[in-house]
Amino acid sequence: MTSLSAQQAQALIEIANQARQQAYAPYSNYPVGAAVRTKSGRVFTGVNVENAAYPATMCAERIAIFKAVSEGEREFEAIAVVTSNGGSPCGGCRQVMAEFGLETIVLIGNGKGHLLLQTTVRDLLPGAFTPQDLQPDNRA
Ligand code: THU
Repeated sequence: MTSLSAQQAQALIEIANQARQQAYAPYSNYPVGAAVRTKSGRVFTGVNVENAAYPATMCAERIAIFKAVSEGEREFEAIAVVTSNGGSPCGGCRQVMAEFGLETIVLIGNGKGHLLLQTTVRDLLPGAFTPQDLQPDNRA
């Protein structure tokens, strides 16, 4: 699948925006919500979880993906990320998304529940380092 219908996209944005209420972001005050839809049709949410030791913070997108993977899912159709101002996924999250497929659709929304952008991991992370790079045939 290369794109979601407007209705499917909106639905995932709304789930991510709803999840955002559970964000634990007392330091940045920048709550983030994410929702990943698997190819099997399941949805996993995530929020950013901050820590007094700042680098121990984990992003919403990675939590959603890790929850899905830990429940046996590795094939993702789309991931929605919602912030108050429509912020874009960070580099670390793009790398984690790339691990599971460059064609995964990425939806970016704002706190009003508006879908601002529908793109793909491939477009967000050109030249990605992927599992393929570790295949013996691709090594020097
Ligand atoms: N954050 C995310 O959850 N996802 C991103 O892609 C960017 C940043 C979180 C981390 C931190 O809790 C807050 O947003 C500010 O950086």
